[in-house]
Amino acid sequence: MAVAPIEWADGRLRLLDQTRLPGEVRYVEPATAEAVWEAIRALRVRGAPAIGIAAAFGLYLGVRGSEARTREAFLADVRRVAEYLATARPTAVNLSWALRRVQRRVEVLEAPVDTLKAEVLAGALELLEEDRRTCRDIGRRGAPLLAGARAVLTHCNAGGLATAQYGTALAPIYHLHEQGHTLRVYVDETRPLLQGARLTAWELLQAGIPVTLITDSMAAVVLRQRRVDAVIVGADRVASNGDTANKIGTYGLAVLAREHGVPLYVALPTSTFDFSLPDGDRIPIEERSPDEVTHLAGVRTAPEGVDVFNPAFDVTPAHLITAFITEVGVIHPPFGPALAQLRKDLGR
Ligand code: MRU
Repeated sequence: MAVAPIEWADGRLRLLDQTRLPGEVRYVEPATAEAVWEAIRALRVRGAPAIGIAAAFGLYLGVRGSEARTREAFLADVRRVAEYLATARPTAVNLSWALRRVQRRVEVLEAPVDTLKAEVLAGALELLEEDRRTCRDIGRRGAPLLAGARAVLTHCNAGGLATAQYGTALAPIYHLHEQGHTLRVYVDETRPLLQGARLTAWELLQAGIPVTLITDSMAAVVLRQRRVDAVIVGADRVASNGDTANKIGTYGLAVLAREHGVPLYVALPTSTFDFSLPDGDRIPIEERSPDEVTHLAGVRTAPEGVDVFNPAFDVTPAHLITAFITEVGVIHPPFGPALAQLRKDLGR
């Protein structure tokens, strides 16, 4: 993918403003932790891995001007800014995971404040680089599962725009495309904010991959007519038993996939596993403004005063998931023991 969603150059953070796609490719340059918080909350940068990386740079922007003179005072600043940034969005665990990782990296050092500041930046840059590699590995690991497929269905955007580059759910599709096997991708438009139509369709077309855009309510017909061989999505937080939070509509799609005997793959970095939660019941689900449902592109489409329910994510029960595709391998059911083993392997 030619366009990078997150860049760091000459001491400046550049975020591709995804609220303007596909009409306009425009970057914003948040210069403070507050501006990064706003960019995450407003979905200028979005997608679980991408918001973690952006927040890590936000942490640096928030502490680089710190006037703390002692290591302890500086670490208190780091903690305060990290806690603040973690409140930007609640569901994707990658946000707090990334912040905690940078925080821990600094906390273990006995060094002067300037060195600690540089270390915060180094932590953010490392996340950016590492996510690129992670997504490539997800692509490589997931490709064999789709090797016999002609077409797949995806929901929301779990592509390059949602990560440092390359994506998670789209990574096996990009990988196969690079090997000369091009799949058609059916893309749910993904109401209410149209990440599928605006972002996934855009980035796949840029990569030369054929796209068929559908409204969310057409997925059942697509599955029944066997137009796709698999459904592949990303994730925002996965509990220890495999219950998976992802963009609202994923659960419905999972039920439909099961009804029609089509496999559902969830592609994710291992940082999206939240081993502190036994199951999906306790995953915090973000509720967003009613305006997102009552308006389309700024135009009111529902009567004034109507009540609205607008959860941004839902939880797909583990038993509807065929397999998880991670950077360290494919995880098959039963997920409980497999994820317990993964936790051990990761030392978490
Ligand atoms: O609200 P968004 O656009 O941030 O939601 C994004 C998703 O639900 C993605 O599927 C998920 O974050 C995985 S991104 C690799």
